[in-house]
Amino acid sequence: MSPSEQSIPHGHVLRYNLRERLTHWVAAAAYIYLLSTGLAFWSPWLFWLAAALGGAQVSRMLHPWAGLLFFASVWNMYVMWARQMKYTDDDRKWWKAVKYYSTNQDDKMPPAGRYNAGQKFLFWGFFWSSLLLLLSGIIMWSPQYFAWHSLIAMRISVLIHASAALFTMGLFMIHLYMGLFAERGAFGSVIRGDVSIAFAKRYHPAWYKEIVGESSSPRK
Ligand code: HEM
Repeated sequence: MSPSEQSIPHGHVLRYNLRERLTHWVAAAAYIYLLSTGLAFWSPWLFWLAAALGGAQVSRMLHPWAGLLFFASVWNMYVMWARQMKYTDDDRKWWKAVKYYSTNQDDKMPPAGRYNAGQKFLFWGFFWSSLLLLLSGIIMWSPQYFAWHSLIAMRISVLIHASAALFTMGLFMIHLYMGLFAERGAFGSVIRGDVSIAFAKRYHPAWYKEIVGESSSPRK
């Protein structure tokens, strides 16, 4: 039994180990900084965000570095979770039944594994967006290396950067709502690491069966 498993309270199971939680919070902190400074660059109405974060020069200097940190943590998520985030036939069934999920009729849902199809969508959305943000961001960061047709490269990069950022904002709002309000007990899992058995059985029944060693047969 690992040290993190020993400290799990009775009636709970480990959902996120320390490495997973640290990676998640580095990604979250970097993303919130990127979002605040990025919005300040985007609109004069939001410039106060950069002023509050040390001024325009500091924000402009640190934004790309925070971007590298964000990408590195998303990449670490990829290394840890990509295999568990693969789409399966059950995920297709999950989307078809999503109306039951949104009306809290979890017993009518196909059994979700460690991640449900919505979480997988969020993961891949963040993964591909952060790749686009990285590539377009690097072009904007070092225009001197793209001088051959820098104006075109720059315009395309601005467009890609803004579109990918906008897409992640949509994902982020849904993620906050789901993690903080919709699924009671989820937030504790990225803080302490554990969830109650009731949470695991309700939201991730196939995963629960897997970790307690039962074979996962479809629910009737
Ligand atoms: C303050 C900001 C954030 C909060 C409060 C938050 C909250 C949470 C919670 C509660 C979970 C556990 C969900 C569960 O297993 O049932 C989670 C998981 C996760 N978070 Fe965050 N998160 C935040 C920021 C981010 C950011 C910026 C990313 C972008 C990379 C991210 C990516 C993920 C991923 C991929 C998972 C695992 C799959 C999932 O549950 O969706 N989170 N987060």
